[in-house]
Amino acid sequence: MIGRIVAALTGIGVVAGAGFLAIAWHPAIAPVAPPTAGSFDTASIERGRVLAAGGYCAECHTRRDGQQGAPLAGDYAMATPFGTIHSSNITPDPETGIGRWSLAAFTRAMRHGVSRDGANLFPAFPFDHFTHMTDGDIADVYAFLMTRPPVHAQKRENTVPFPANIRLFQGGWKLLFLHPGVYRPDPAHDAQWNRGAYLAEGLSHCGACHTPRNMLGAEKSDAAYDGAPVDNWIAPPLNATNPTPVTWTENEFFSYLRYGVAPLHGSAAGPMSPVVHGGLSEMPESDVRAIAVYLADLDHAASRQGGDSARLTAAMASSTRDLTGPQTDPDARLYAGACAACHANTGAQPVPGRPDLALNNALWLSEPTNLYQVVLRGIGTAEGQAGITMPSFYHSLTDADLARLAAYLRRTRTTLPPWTDLEKKAAAVRSTLPAPPVAASH
Ligand code: HEC
Ligand code: HEC
Ligand code: HEC
Repeated sequence: MIGRIVAALTGIGVVAGAGFLAIAWHPAIAPVAPPTAGSFDTASIERGRVLAAGGYCAECHTRRDGQQGAPLAGDYAMATPFGTIHSSNITPDPETGIGRWSLAAFTRAMRHGVSRDGANLFPAFPFDHFTHMTDGDIADVYAFLMTRPPVHAQKRENTVPFPANIRLFQGGWKLLFLHPGVYRPDPAHDAQWNRGAYLAEGLSHCGACHTPRNMLGAEKSDAAYDGAPVDNWIAPPLNATNPTPVTWTENEFFSYLRYGVAPLHGSAAGPMSPVVHGGLSEMPESDVRAIAVYLADLDHAASRQGGDSARLTAAMASSTRDLTGPQTDPDARLYAGACAACHANTGAQPVPGRPDLALNNALWLSEPTNLYQVVLRGIGTAEGQAGITMPSFYHSLTDADLARLAAYLRRTRTTLPPWTDLEKKAAAVRSTLPAPPVAASH
């Protein structure tokens, strides 16, 4: 992979100069008089509202650090390995937003990652996915954005160092990694599968978090949906390499994406929570179902489900082992005291609202990251399953306790090798979190 990038970069060196400029340089598109709200069709605005939710535009275009910004007014700080990039104001303010952008300028930004003035945009803006949207969908999002209240707000400067900050060089990145163009339906699959693929690959950009990236920050095309670190969490693999014992089927995916919980797996917490509760929740059920159909094909659910009932039985057998007989293992006692009241399941399947840890990827992933996140932060009412919460253990468990719990749960509920450096990793996750108020903890 690295060899290929170096070769490709050398290739760019050779075409540098006139050839490279022709690819990387884009003209400005003339500003227009801000279009009036009346010039948009109300049905288009409403479709755009749903699409903007499904693409999480407000998630990334609203400032949340230090002060709360106005929706879509930008300045959300994105930490990337290349520095902090601040998102743009995409309200229709004529000076600081996109008020003077024509539909053509907006479409070029979504499809080619080029700003109205011709500057190349950084792929922190997931235009490598939005490029697959249809012209009609892009026009609907434009109609929605241009009819929002304009907000006058300048964003902070990026901290991307020289020479990565030279926007012209993004032309080289695009040459290597951008495959512009509307999604082309795969004739080997039906309309529902293709709808799911269109949304997952384009608007809802699932791969932006679930696919690992290379040194240049592009998704590795040969490792699509293999799982990746994101914002101090792990976005688990969504293909056949997903390690949980029971296969993710169409119904499990659907339940997770629609309700924030899959009975045989777990809850949508952390960075996955806004995807479900702020994004997909606005989309029609048929679209969420289509994504589930696409994912179930991607992870080969049909051919892997066979052993599920035996694996489920084995997992459930481990759920109450800590509660029977004289308990001499101090780690088992720690678990029984802190967690078992809510997580022990005695039946053949987990009770709703009582995720079984033996089935949860927090224990099966290559690192304990998500387990630590969940235990330290807890799960709020708006996350995971609506209205159901898990308390934060930030103040009641030390890093040494967390390490013991993690080792114990991994040992008793999975068949995988033990995690290493557990206490150090607990401290590392803790250091990324603000301390919750003491009253809110367990
Ligand atoms: C993962 C975060 C993320 C998401 C999701 C996201 N954006 Fe952005 N967007 C950014 C960042 C960061 C920039 C600034 C990039 C730069 O400065 O090069 C940006 C820039 C833009 C720009 C260019 C503005 C300008 O002045 O050049 C437009 C237009 C835009 N986004 C529209 C959208 C729309 C529409 C959606 C939803 C469909 C969306 N974005 C979703 C992060 C995001
Ligand atoms: C902003 C990053 C981000 C985006 C975008 C995102 N995910 Fe996730 N996803 C995560 C993280 C982090 C987790 C782990 C959450 C947890 O364990 O509570 C996760 C968990 C999941 C899980 C559960 C996997 C398991 O084995 O436990 C599924 C299924 C899933 N995501 C599907 C999707 C789909 C489908 C999309 C696109 C519609 C998507 N995700 C978009 C970050 C993201
Ligand atoms: C007071 C009850 C309660 C206690 C005590 C509790 N949990 Fe939970 N836990 C829950 C609930 C409820 C959920 C599901 C929340 C949701 O979906 O909104 C959950 C979810 C989880 C998840 C799944 C997260 C995901 O993203 O899928 C893990 C892992 C977990 N708990 C671990 C633990 C551990 C380890 C302990 C002990 C340190 C513990 N819990 C103690 C109630 C509890």
